[in-house]
Amino acid sequence: HTVYLKDYAPSPYRIVAVDLDFRIGAETTRVTAQLTVEPREDTEPGTPLVLDGDELSLGSIAIDGAPLILSAYAADANGLTVFEPPLRRFVLETEVTLRPEGNTRLMGLYRSSGTWCTQCEPEGFRRITYYLDRPDNLAVFKVRMTAPLDLAPVLLANGNLIDKGDAGDGQHYAVWEDPFPKPAYLFALVAGDLGSITDSFTTASGRKVDLAIYCSHGKENQCLWAMDSLKRSMAWDERRFGREYDLDIFNIVAVSDFNFGAMENKGLNIFNDRLVFAEPETATDANYDGIERVIAHEYFHNWTGNRITCRDWFQLCLKEGLTVYRDQEFTSDERSRAVKRISDVVTLRSAQFPEDGGPLAHPPRPDQYREINNFYTTTVYEKGAEIVRMLATLLGEAGFRKGMDLYFERHDGEATTIEAFLAVFAEANGIDLEQFKTWYLQAGTPRLTVAEQYDADKQTYTLRLRQETPPTPGQPDKAPLVLPIKFGLIGPNGSPMAWSGVSGAEVRDDLIVLKDASAEVTFTGIPSRPVPSLLRGFSAPVILQTEASQQDQLFLARHDSDPFNRWQALQDVGMALALDAISGAPLNDGALTALSQAMSDTLASDSLDNAFKALALSLPDEQLIGRTIGKDIDPDKIHAVRERLLQAVFEPLADQMLGTYNALASSAPYAPDPASTGRRALRNRMLSLLVASDAAGASLLALKQYEGASNMTDRLAALSAASNAGTPDAAGMLANFRTRFGADPLVLDKWLTVTAAAPREGVIEDMKAILADPSFPKTNPNRLRSLVGTFAMGNPTQFARADGAGFRFVTDFVSDVDKVNPQVAARVLTGFRIWPMLESGRREAANAALLALRDKGSLSRNTADILTRMLAS
Ligand code: ARG
Ligand code: ZN
Repeated sequence: HTVYLKDYAPSPYRIVAVDLDFRIGAETTRVTAQLTVEPREDTEPGTPLVLDGDELSLGSIAIDGAPLILSAYAADANGLTVFEPPLRRFVLETEVTLRPEGNTRLMGLYRSSGTWCTQCEPEGFRRITYYLDRPDNLAVFKVRMTAPLDLAPVLLANGNLIDKGDAGDGQHYAVWEDPFPKPAYLFALVAGDLGSITDSFTTASGRKVDLAIYCSHGKENQCLWAMDSLKRSMAWDERRFGREYDLDIFNIVAVSDFNFGAMENKGLNIFNDRLVFAEPETATDANYDGIERVIAHEYFHNWTGNRITCRDWFQLCLKEGLTVYRDQEFTSDERSRAVKRISDVVTLRSAQFPEDGGPLAHPPRPDQYREINNFYTTTVYEKGAEIVRMLATLLGEAGFRKGMDLYFERHDGEATTIEAFLAVFAEANGIDLEQFKTWYLQAGTPRLTVAEQYDADKQTYTLRLRQETPPTPGQPDKAPLVLPIKFGLIGPNGSPMAWSGVSGAEVRDDLIVLKDASAEVTFTGIPSRPVPSLLRGFSAPVILQTEASQQDQLFLARHDSDPFNRWQALQDVGMALALDAISGAPLNDGALTALSQAMSDTLASDSLDNAFKALALSLPDEQLIGRTIGKDIDPDKIHAVRERLLQAVFEPLADQMLGTYNALASSAPYAPDPASTGRRALRNRMLSLLVASDAAGASLLALKQYEGASNMTDRLAALSAASNAGTPDAAGMLANFRTRFGADPLVLDKWLTVTAAAPREGVIEDMKAILADPSFPKTNPNRLRSLVGTFAMGNPTQFARADGAGFRFVTDFVSDVDKVNPQVAARVLTGFRIWPMLESGRREAANAALLALRDKGSLSRNTADILTRMLAS
């Protein structure tokens, strides 16, 4: 059944305090909950109290100590109703028995490698006890845990440890109390035999906070980077947003079986261990980066998510979009802002744009859902962050900060909405944000089209801007959005060109604010035709279409003061060449040479840094080319054209690239700082381009780097380069990697990823063999996603094979894994979102695979929801 935002109503009862008693045993865990319940002022006598449950069975029930008679309540797996509760404050006591060992969905209380742990967001708490499992019910929690000392010497929950001791019979106990009222989705508990590292942080106002990261024994040294990231996050939030931590303890626990990245439970963050563990021999620069980012993200949730939470799950991007924006800013401040922006936009285009342009499109704030777990999407997270970024662009740094300060001041301790969030910015800045709000309500990626005209006689320059958002499922008609378009005009000598006057739209310094469907902006006092640099820093999440010639683009690539647009200009030239070639036109030699030359100049520049160069020396990926074509996609053709183009553009640079490769060698010990990371990124980029463009000796270079590497970044880069290009040594290198590192699950994931991404015949058979191996951990989300998730999202030619084998492999997998872990199944199935854009034969094959999945029946709500939306297109 569908839940609608318009039906939101406060609950007639509130739970204000929760006392939980967990008696953890090897097989079962008994949970006694004492809920202090209060009727709301306007609650009518006789209004039933309806609590959520999921796969629960009620053991006992009492109110204020007196057991209830059978006719006073109804309980089943999915809920508990007390028909006529007292119309005053009372304590409801219930008892249930859980079997964490059999909880393969990994929601609620489950076991991961022997450790008991929880995941409650969004609706997992109802799998632990009957409750008002909705984010607008804030309560203080006290948790008592008793467990066998040998199996679980470590007992953790939210807040402060207030008591612990021996419980006899080889048992011990701990009592934790969290003074901050919170919704149940932020509840957490961990019990296990864990190692740890500890540290401390003193806040600006002098509170000493004890920090600890818990992990399986022996992994302690792999937690140091995460701890370092945590301390830097805490300091940054004080500096940049004036936000201090508020408890005396902050704990992080790394677990091996986890459905997503990490979870911001109050004072007790629980992490997928792939986002905690790092050492140079087994983790890449990308892993270090991901750890820093997610540690920061979860920590920042303490203010944007926990102290101020969501009224209902429709408001999810209130906390997620804002917190992603905050973690992006953290990385930008700690590392390179330009490089961070470019990588974020690459991600946005490769993940969010396809979602927004396909069958699963939805607004950042949806107004209906059948399964809320399916809305933890890149639209809610990444587009949500883009919206906050646009707000910051429109208001300026000071205006944005004023709004944030008011948000914290006014809504601390509340569960609130997008409307309340926008209202503080409007009020603090004395502006109206009604139209801006449309960004939250409307799905689809807007197209921004810009035409230009220079009038030499009048010395005027005119930009004609037009915006249009295509229809998306359920939203045929779209309203114009507020588009902040950062820009500059560049004169023939490469310096900024000033104007004496401007009219036609709201223009301030370097910003055009487009509010209507179209506008004409005219600049006066323009002595010669300028080259416009539009949408600098990707100031709005749109698809920009301009009339820029290749010459203009190469000019921008050389002269634009905005690094994002310099990068974008080279990408645009590459895209134009790819589109021409795919349409059947012969490759234009002049255009190719010009791009090669521009790439060469970029590489040679001494004002650009290595990390930027690594991003600039690339061509748009196959999937982006496909989506730019937009219909009747033939992935094989795109693959072939792109290979040809890579060779044509980069082979002439082979000597220069080899020179750079050699010059960037280093024998310094591994360090994850920006300069070292940038050096490795450019060097490995050189390697992959040399290999992909089939330069003489390149495959041997990859083999040598693979064998001689002193860190995982370099080793994996060599392996991927060889595997993606299918060099003669690739198979041997892969086998070697498997033997050498296969015992470390997180490194095994890398092998699975490289294997699944290889664009070659036979990859499906190889994956089937991997899955059929009895030693393959078939319930671990990281393993499954590394293999099948990578294949569905990152291997366009083999997933979308013309014979349909790739589609069937994925739907068969989804059907199997759905019985074990519906969230993994539903997530992998979203790989099909590109199917309506494929050419007709492949479209037919995809449709047939999806229909066959539907006909098998008995799918989880998660998977059925995705499948239904996928087939409705
Ligand atoms: N709140 C967590 C985070 O963003 C993620 C929780 C994911 N939950 C889910 N059902 N997908 O850090
Ligand atoms: Zn989050």
